[in-house]
Amino acid sequence: MAESIVFTKHAERSQIYKEILPQLEALIAGETDLTANLANIAAVLREAFGFLWVGFYLVREGQLVLGPFQGPVACTRIESGQGVCGHAYESRKTVIVPNVHEFPGHIACSSRSLSEIVVPMFNDDGSVFGVLDVDSERLDDFADVDARSLEAIVRLIEKLPR
Ligand code: SME
Repeated sequence: MAESIVFTKHAERSQIYKEILPQLEALIAGETDLTANLANIAAVLREAFGFLWVGFYLVREGQLVLGPFQGPVACTRIESGQGVCGHAYESRKTVIVPNVHEFPGHIACSSRSLSEIVVPMFNDDGSVFGVLDVDSERLDDFADVDARSLEAIVRLIEKLPR
């Protein structure tokens, strides 16, 4: 297993995503435990981009329950439709929020979070089994490149045993 992640510091974000994707693939290839893999993926994304919070919420009996993450303490349970995470879960779509203060129902786990992106993760039958949530201390920090790249990472996660 790789012990560290190598990427070009200060490169364009698209370049860093390109560099870390194959390393993430290699990192999770040798491990079948979902929790272990999600924990390492959260660590890599936080290290590579310095995001405020990177983590996962997993569906448990219709609710999103906090999973592996890196960053400040977070709320543990989110109902479908609530907040940005619950909205992505319900709508089954990637949600980018440029300014969390303008998103009705945003759940403020940290007052330092200003923008957010949430990507749903799908089972083979099309149901959602969780979401990847990333928070930034910068306004309008997420663009199409983040959506596409985080979705590519989620596609890797969906292939893991659960
Ligand atoms: N802000 C999220 C809640 C989770 S935290 O950001 C870690 C939301 O509105 O769903």
